[in-house]
Amino acid sequence: MAFMAFMASNKCSLLALLVLSVYVSVTTSRVLNEVSMSDRHNQWMLEHGRAYKDVVEKQRHFEIYKKNIEFIDSFNNGDHKFKLGANKFADLTNEEFRAMYNGFRLSSTDDSKAKSSFKYENFTDVAEFVDWRTKGAVTHVKNQQQCSCCWAFSAVAAMEGAIKLNTGNLISLSEQEVVDCDIYGEDHGCNPSFTDGAFKFIIQNGGLTTETNYPYMATQGTCNMQKTASHAAQINGYEQVPANNEAALLMAVANQPVSVTIEASGSAFRFYSKGVFNGPCGTELDHAVTIVGYGQDSDGTKYWLIKNSWGESWGEDGYIRMERDVEYAQGLCGIAMQASYPTI
Ligand SMILES: *[C@@H]1O[C@H](CO)[C@@H](O)[C@H](O)[C@H]1NC(C)=O
Repeated sequence: MAFMAFMASNKCSLLALLVLSVYVSVTTSRVLNEVSMSDRHNQWMLEHGRAYKDVVEKQRHFEIYKKNIEFIDSFNNGDHKFKLGANKFADLTNEEFRAMYNGFRLSSTDDSKAKSSFKYENFTDVAEFVDWRTKGAVTHVKNQQQCSCCWAFSAVAAMEGAIKLNTGNLISLSEQEVVDCDIYGEDHGCNPSFTDGAFKFIIQNGGLTTETNYPYMATQGTCNMQKTASHAAQINGYEQVPANNEAALLMAVANQPVSVTIEASGSAFRFYSKGVFNGPCGTELDHAVTIVGYGQDSDGTKYWLIKNSWGESWGEDGYIRMERDVEYAQGLCGIAMQASYPTI
């Protein structure tokens, strides 16, 4: 009874105390969060060799960094098949990121509907797992940097695979040659373009030289006629995989690496770190990559193994596994909408 009376008479002050202590802890943790967030930003800057021209610029990027980290932390606290990481894109807004690191656009003459033969249409010997890296048909992960020429990287990676599978030689070929010299069609240097245009150029050009001979500069330069005269490898055509058909895509990838286009501008894709990516993403194709295999995760999730061109620090050492055989025909992020491969 005495205790109850005490409780009753002290209810207000207890409540006040409670409110006060919650307020204090919220304020303290907010201040602590700001401090630790700023520490994290400084740490991240060191890790990624980022410098800003002045404090205003630093503050602006800090605010973006903070929003991105909050998104990444809250995503990672949820239940997902994949994890995100504060990678080198963590201080960019979505608009800045999109402008710099993607680079695919649909052809204005849109020949995507053009009738194309598909030489793997009757292929049935589809293995359960394929990883063209283990067959030595994939070169090192490259980095397009701030040049929207993913279309060149995607096409060259598919060509490198085709050359290896046909000749036995893995040769790292020159994206820079494509960026500098492909000035005939709709493709222009560091501007968004389309993968089939790169294949057309390579055919017209009579082949490509090596990456060593014509190294990547991440900017468009004048076509070096001397370098482009020494071809290291040739293709003589390309074919499109029947659109919106993951089964057909599987038949193609079972035979060689394939160029595909996806929507890659969402935050979950940008900050992908590991696991099987399953969205969210739409089908507004804006990035070209190369499928270099497929398989199934231990939990049964089927995936495509994809080589990206954002350097080795992104994703799983430069690769991403994206969910395969989704319930809509376009595939996850539109991956089955526009796939093609070179022929020799
Ligand atoms: C696939 O099989 C059909 C039916 O036998 C045949 O007409 C077609 O030419 C074959 N396609 C290829 C690429 O061999």
